[in-house]
Amino acid sequence: MKSSMKPRARSGPSARSLSPVGPLWVLMVLSQSTRRRRHIRRKSLPREPSSLFDMCMHDEALNRWQRGWSASRGWTDFQCIDDVTVVRIGEPERRVEYVATEQHATAAAHLALTDCNPPGTSWLTIAAGAADRVAADLRPFEIVRTEWLMTVRLADQVSYPVPPPYSLELSATPSVVEAQVYEYGEIAATGRMAILHTGAVADMIQTDPAHRRRGLARAVMTALGHAARCRSATTAYLAASPDGRRLYKCLGWTTLTPLVVARTSLTSSR
Ligand SMILES: CC(C)(COP(=O)(O)OP(=O)(O)OC[C@H]1O[C@@H](n2cnc3c(N)ncnc32)[C@H](O)[C@@H]1OP(=O)(O)O)[C@@H](O)C(=O)NCCC(=O)NCCS
Repeated sequence: MKSSMKPRARSGPSARSLSPVGPLWVLMVLSQSTRRRRHIRRKSLPREPSSLFDMCMHDEALNRWQRGWSASRGWTDFQCIDDVTVVRIGEPERRVEYVATEQHATAAAHLALTDCNPPGTSWLTIAAGAADRVAADLRPFEIVRTEWLMTVRLADQVSYPVPPPYSLELSATPSVVEAQVYEYGEIAATGRMAILHTGAVADMIQTDPAHRRRGLARAVMTALGHAARCRSATTAYLAASPDGRRLYKCLGWTTLTPLVVARTSLTSSR
């Protein structure tokens, strides 16, 4: 991991003095004690989704997704500060992305609220056990959307060929495979998969509206998954949109956790 970005000096307001992120502290303490109580009451019931095992698994999945997503987009400048991955994107509308689990949302919020970027250009992606709860607690931020972190074992993937008259072409760099589906020379669908060791991350899966529901995205996912397996990847991850989630579910992907995507408010006075 390249770490050219230095930890920022905490010259801004302290985390405690920021009333907007205050509720997260309270919420975390409350939810932890509630979880403890629930755990005592339901000792004999099957493991809850918020168990330590699941939290660690989600942590690992989020980390692998972030690395693959960054590789797919060509973002090489990222580092970890206070359990928050800081990705320096450098685009005018999206200067930086703070990626964290719900447990570290307060730290991510603090970093976003105290960096020097113009309003609206510091983004958060928070893996949230409950998207509504996290969205409510990120009140000083503008909630952009909810996505879902999903995963699949590549060995379990069923193959779907591209239907005629379409044709599919693959191109690759050392870490990213790209698929393009053509109809008589025009692009109808595209997608990418970044491959980092045994993990693969699907990104930018899109079908032109005129060509949807003809099995093109399914064929793109098949081709990318196959290419990733040929390069020794075993598990794949992605962040799904609502439309995408329906597609991936039908391909056997499972949802790990919602992802709340937010950004600093354009109207904030910092
Ligand atoms: C999501 C998207 C890529 C799907 O592309 P597509 O080529 O239409 O998908 P496919 O035809 O291969 O769909 C395969 C299956 O997925 C499911 N599916 C796909 N899109 C769906 C939708 N909008 N609603 C319900 N089910 C859907 C269906 O089960 C479908 O099979 P069926 O048509 O036989 O019922 C396309 O809608 C899109 O580009 N959306 C905008 C961008 C986006 O959200 N991309 C995903 C980013 S994570």
